[in-house]
Amino acid sequence: MPTFLVGDHRLGGIGSTISAWESLHIRGYNVQSVGLFAEGRYENAAYLKDYFAERNISSFSIPPPPDPVADPREDVKAMSSYYDDASISNEVDTFVDSFMQAHDKRIEDLRSMPKQATEAIWHPFMQHSERNENNVVAMESAYGDYFQTYTKQKESSQASGEAETALLQPAFDASASWWTQGLGHGNPQLALTAAHAAGKYGHVMFAGAVHEPALTLAQTLIQRMDNPRLSKVFYTDNGSTGMEVAVKMALRAASKRNGWSPEDNVEILGLIGSYHGDTMGTMDCSEPSIFNKKVEWYQGRGHWLDFPQVKLRDGQWIVEPPKSLHKAVGKTRTFNSLEEIFDLEARRADWGRYRSYLDAELWHLRQQGHKFGALIMEPVILGAGGMMFADPLFQRCLVDAVRGIDPNMDSARAMDAQGADKDWQGMPVIFDEVFTGLYRLGRFDAAGFLGTDPDIVVNAKLLTGGLLPLCTTTASEAIFEAFLSADKSDALLHGHSYTAHAIGCSVANESLSTMASISQSDDWEGFRKDWTTSVLTDGHTNPTPWSMWSKSFVETVSRRPNVESVFAIGSVFAMSLKDPAGSGYASTAATGLRDRLFTGGQSGEPVIHSRVLGNVLYLMGAMTCTPETLKGVEETVLRALDV
Ligand SMILES: Cc1ncc(COP(=O)(O)O)c(C=O)c1O
Repeated sequence: MPTFLVGDHRLGGIGSTISAWESLHIRGYNVQSVGLFAEGRYENAAYLKDYFAERNISSFSIPPPPDPVADPREDVKAMSSYYDDASISNEVDTFVDSFMQAHDKRIEDLRSMPKQATEAIWHPFMQHSERNENNVVAMESAYGDYFQTYTKQKESSQASGEAETALLQPAFDASASWWTQGLGHGNPQLALTAAHAAGKYGHVMFAGAVHEPALTLAQTLIQRMDNPRLSKVFYTDNGSTGMEVAVKMALRAASKRNGWSPEDNVEILGLIGSYHGDTMGTMDCSEPSIFNKKVEWYQGRGHWLDFPQVKLRDGQWIVEPPKSLHKAVGKTRTFNSLEEIFDLEARRADWGRYRSYLDAELWHLRQQGHKFGALIMEPVILGAGGMMFADPLFQRCLVDAVRGIDPNMDSARAMDAQGADKDWQGMPVIFDEVFTGLYRLGRFDAAGFLGTDPDIVVNAKLLTGGLLPLCTTTASEAIFEAFLSADKSDALLHGHSYTAHAIGCSVANESLSTMASISQSDDWEGFRKDWTTSVLTDGHTNPTPWSMWSKSFVETVSRRPNVESVFAIGSVFAMSLKDPAGSGYASTAATGLRDRLFTGGQSGEPVIHSRVLGNVLYLMGAMTCTPETLKGVEETVLRALDV
């Protein structure tokens, strides 16, 4: 909205008017005009006119009102005459005209943006033969859980109706802006923190330097991850580059210990459907898929195992191994609750089956000559590969298997044994928590669900609460030491212009402490209660899983005839829709639902802006989403599913 600021004509008014403007500006208001009383003694109006003109903001002044008169009738008369004169003054006329023009221009800009975008912008993850000015969404602004959206298509369809319609449509940001959103759009506290750090540092280079925000963030992450192995934080700009660094770290450590040379074909071990970023190196860490196989330099360098998945189907929690694993690990198993699936201790039979299979598989791979420089996994949820919920026990067993941990050891003792030896065993274990870390799944890290300590952890997305790109790769001392020598060329010669930018680190510190408070809030307590069902086995150590999405909603959706299965954990809810043509990224089964959610609402009423991954439609809230907001989204989704 164009905003009008009433300035202060009194002593000290220049400073207070500028401060007021700065506060509004940082909070996203477009101050279009400033008006104040003309005052001869301090001449604030004259100074502020120049000040704001430099910032493209018009300003005007009008004479101050007459002094108050004791007789109320006379006073009213004097003021009426003042208002009459002021309202027809040139200054006020010009102000009103320019304000209206600004409003018209804003609407014109909004209407023309989608078309201009088709001319000037190359969008990510989009086939442009399908793009046109009707399907590009213009984001006018965003606040809290909602975007303010404009689409030409919606305007045209509403223009045919009789009723006056709103140009902008609020839309719930159901992809949490590509999984980054934590504390709501336009969060004033984060904006202020960023502005403060910008004012204090701008950007300062980080080679051989340190500043308080980067130091505090590194110390906080090491302390909060509560993983005795981790001791050093390396900064990069986004999930892909942070994963690149993780891979460089692990491969060097493994090659050094194993005496491998650059001629050796060192690979990574991972899970089918993993995704670790779009830079060349991280693409090579995933098996051929729609994302990478047409990229000329891509060469998948690894071996990827299929894995059992956790699903809720027709109200029943199951762990469903792929057909190819039925012989080795058995068929689908049912559970009374999600908690039971995470009660790893109690699942001794599965533990044995998984370890036998994985030990044998690893043995075969090594016999075939594979040299693995790292195990890389997204713990619990494999996001971009299609929102797949991996059986946490399978992932835990895989870590144990590569480390050669005695399969008969119970998990608490195994943890102790790992903790005592902070060095990596077998191969370095990298947890890509770019998506799943930092409260996305309801707890600080996803590693804790598996009850195991990785050697390297990568965090991004929620790190800055959804405001800025920043990534940390946190490594064990043993990995760090692999780069130590008297020779500079042995060092990790990696860095980015904006490494450890002070603005991002400051915002990250603010976000982490805000999210820590939210995790203790009544809302989150309520979410947890909704999901806590059973008394678990004695000695159960793993944290209980829960979701911000209500249990009844998740169960109801799982019973819909067009739904194959669903899951929810933390702020993530995903539903796989039945697709006779097959699932996978190329499936179009979920796009109809996505479009209904976005275009369905009445003019001016909130709709849902969601993303799909093939036949999967997912919903993801910020950490600040209230139960009331989520309930509204749930009701809309249920209605849309019934159409
Ligand atoms: C698990 C995982 N790793 C890495 C990345 C890459 O992060 P970025 O998009 O910030 O480069 C993503 C992005 O979605 C991700 O989900």
